[in-house]
Amino acid sequence: MTTQKRIILSGNRPTGRLHLGNYTGALENWVSLQADYRCYFMVADWHVLTTDYEHTAEIPEQTREMVVDWISAGIDPERSVVFVQSQVKEHAELYLLFAMLITTARLERNPTLKEQVRDLEMEEGVSYGHLGYPVLQAADILIYRAHAVPVGEDQLPHIEITRELARKFNRIYDEVFPVPDGMLTPFARFPGLDGKRMSKSLGNTVEMADTPEEIQRKIQTAVTDPQRQRRTDPGRPEVCLIYTYWQKFSPETTAEIYEGCTTAALGCVDCKRRVAAAIAEHLAPMREKRCSLEASPGVVEDIVREGNARARERAQETMARVREAMHVG
Ligand code: TRP
Repeated sequence: MTTQKRIILSGNRPTGRLHLGNYTGALENWVSLQADYRCYFMVADWHVLTTDYEHTAEIPEQTREMVVDWISAGIDPERSVVFVQSQVKEHAELYLLFAMLITTARLERNPTLKEQVRDLEMEEGVSYGHLGYPVLQAADILIYRAHAVPVGEDQLPHIEITRELARKFNRIYDEVFPVPDGMLTPFARFPGLDGKRMSKSLGNTVEMADTPEEIQRKIQTAVTDPQRQRRTDPGRPEVCLIYTYWQKFSPETTAEIYEGCTTAALGCVDCKRRVAAAIAEHLAPMREKRCSLEASPGVVEDIVREGNARARERAQETMARVREAMHVG
């Protein structure tokens, strides 16, 4: 038996520079998956338009910045395919065909959509494209005949729709698609500086590309145990987001920090200064890589061009099978 590597596809909408929540929640996991899977990592630029079709001028720059962070963190373009969704037009064809295989009622039940409608206060109502968000996502995944999709929990409803579409297509036409599994990221929720989930829109982030000085400055503004009001009060690491940062970025130091905090031997200012240094040290090789990428013009563009070509090849192969199975096209 040939032992072909299983295929992974994952993607993100281009949001520009990534923060520690993106890094610990997804990117770090992607980097390690490269050892065991053939990976496709996609910039989902078409998906941006589902919720914001007006502000498109920044998409190229945000794509580039995100890809730079991917590569800096260890996504290896020799092993993995890094590409941009809109550069592989076959996604749009498969999306159109899948659109016939799913009811609007099924899409209206999508909890992710309901949440967005609530959070984004969409006075114009939901666009046709926004309703079809998971159908496009299913096309993204299935066009590479992926076996697994590493995502956050919020994306599981979309994976379920993807699985339904794969099964339905296979049953009606021919066995073209594996039914892919969602793969939950181990370190999913990462707190931002205000204790809420780290998120660009909340302005509570530390970015991967921040300098050690920026990291120090930001971390000093972070909230800590609200009950620890004076330097001499003992703290509660289990409610302190700084302690979560320690657990993530320097697990070997947590015992010492726990002891120092709970006995008030260690104050918050010092604890923060030390954790900021630990985070900066962890990010240092990535910052270096970013600097070298920025110093060599064309390198990122070449990586993406090459990735687009490799993605297209696989997508075209799948579409040939789809057209044959459906007797259309
Ligand atoms: N919907 C995903 C997100 O917002 C992005 C995405 C688009 C994606 N297509 C995908 C993720 C395919 C995994 C697989 O994060």
